[in-house]
Amino acid sequence: MVLNAETISQQSLPKHVAIIMDGNGRWAQSRNRPRTYGHKKGVDAVRNSVQFCKNLGIESLTLFAFSSENWRRPEDEVTTLMGLFLFVLTKEVKKLHKSNVKLTVIGDLSRFPSSLQERINAAHQLTSENTGLQLNVAANYGGRWDIAQAAQKLATQVAEGSLAPEEITEDEISKHLTMANQSELDLLIRTGGDYRISNFLLWQAAYAELYFTDTLWPDFNDEAFSEAIACFVSRERRFGCTGDQIKQLLAASKTTS
Ligand code: FPP
Repeated sequence: MVLNAETISQQSLPKHVAIIMDGNGRWAQSRNRPRTYGHKKGVDAVRNSVQFCKNLGIESLTLFAFSSENWRRPEDEVTTLMGLFLFVLTKEVKKLHKSNVKLTVIGDLSRFPSSLQERINAAHQLTSENTGLQLNVAANYGGRWDIAQAAQKLATQVAEGSLAPEEITEDEISKHLTMANQSELDLLIRTGGDYRISNFLLWQAAYAELYFTDTLWPDFNDEAFSEAIACFVSRERRFGCTGDQIKQLLAASKTTS
């Protein structure tokens, strides 16, 4: 069954979903095609997932498009991926803008070709005032890098005397991560059959529900996405409390709303 905004209570939906889009290479190889063909098909699945989140009223979608470690891949694959990012940023951004999507590329962008950096900045500028789906594309991103760059900013403030070391709290670190001011991550999905986070949103995943599926990314359609959402909805999130405490909190919030 494919979920839509009518068939599911908005209250129980995840606000922020992140996806490790794995399995493009295997998808292509199983069809005797080059791995790069899988990445091209992966773009269709990206487009579909964005539409799915918009239909369902999800606030933020964060996609792991290129990790800090992906530079180690064969040169032609890295070149294809860069070309795809450039293509998407050129061809798709206007459509995203028209549908009120706010696009943010997160990661260490300094290593990308200047043409790509310019497109990224233009896309940020064009969509910055949009109020619909927040779409984050993680490129040359690593969770450890994100925490380290926040630490560097805080260390600079301490060195300048505008922040005391004891003022470095969890909240203060969160405020300096690349997705500061966005809703907390609720659901982290990984396609492609592996069970690891691969240095994705390490800090943000602290209380996220994790969902792993064997489905390869190009096959991740509305039905597969709906299964992940349905699984999230069925889980009890306790944030360190007991199940009874959570039930009492929920009952109390229902009587006050
Ligand atoms: C992992 O599959 C996928 C990637 C490293 C790249 C993901 C990129 C896209 C889906 C296309 C571009 C995206 C955007 C947002 C423009 P893999 O190659 O590791 O697959 P494998 O595990 O089967 O080898």
